[in-house]
Amino acid sequence: MERDDLFTMTHKGLRHGLFSVAQQAGTTEYGDPGAFAALRATWSRLERLLRAHSRQEDEHVLPLVSSKIPGGAVDLAREHTEIRAALDGLAAQVTTIGEEAEVEERRVLGLGFYRAVQRLLVTVLPHLDDEETVLMPRLRATCSEEEIARVRAGLSNALGPEETQHLFGLMLQAVNPVEREALLDRVPGTGGREG
Ligand SMILES: [Fe+2]
Repeated sequence: MERDDLFTMTHKGLRHGLFSVAQQAGTTEYGDPGAFAALRATWSRLERLLRAHSRQEDEHVLPLVSSKIPGGAVDLAREHTEIRAALDGLAAQVTTIGEEAEVEERRVLGLGFYRAVQRLLVTVLPHLDDEETVLMPRLRATCSEEEIARVRAGLSNALGPEETQHLFGLMLQAVNPVEREALLDRVPGTGGREG
């Protein structure tokens, strides 16, 4: 891991969650209430984590970016708004499927949900990549160690216990052995962690 990287391991966990639910959305039999309930539980948990993640970046990362690079946070804030809008749409689709009694109609709606989840990946993946490959180098070039450390500390406290536990579970499934060792040093309660 590069020093003071605020994003990469967290994003590895988020990508793992997204790929997993994208696959589950394709294999679920939407006509079976139990199978749909399982997908809905996985999806809703990831949705909460994605919303919390973009909120913590809005609160702790974007103000620093704006202070160092005039206008530098505009695109990131817009992308967060787009991601939240996509999540709103998916949440509405999940509700609609849950309320639909007709099996065939549930299957049609389920295919629409599956496709929308794939489109969410198209929106989220370039954004995560941009934060790692464009934003983080700009932060390193323009911020002091102390400023980056303050952002890391703010991010560490921004997620609730449920989201933190979920995120660490995803990250541990998504990282390589070297990163895993570093991550285990950051398990909540034993020290800091990534945001
Ligand atoms: Fe972001």
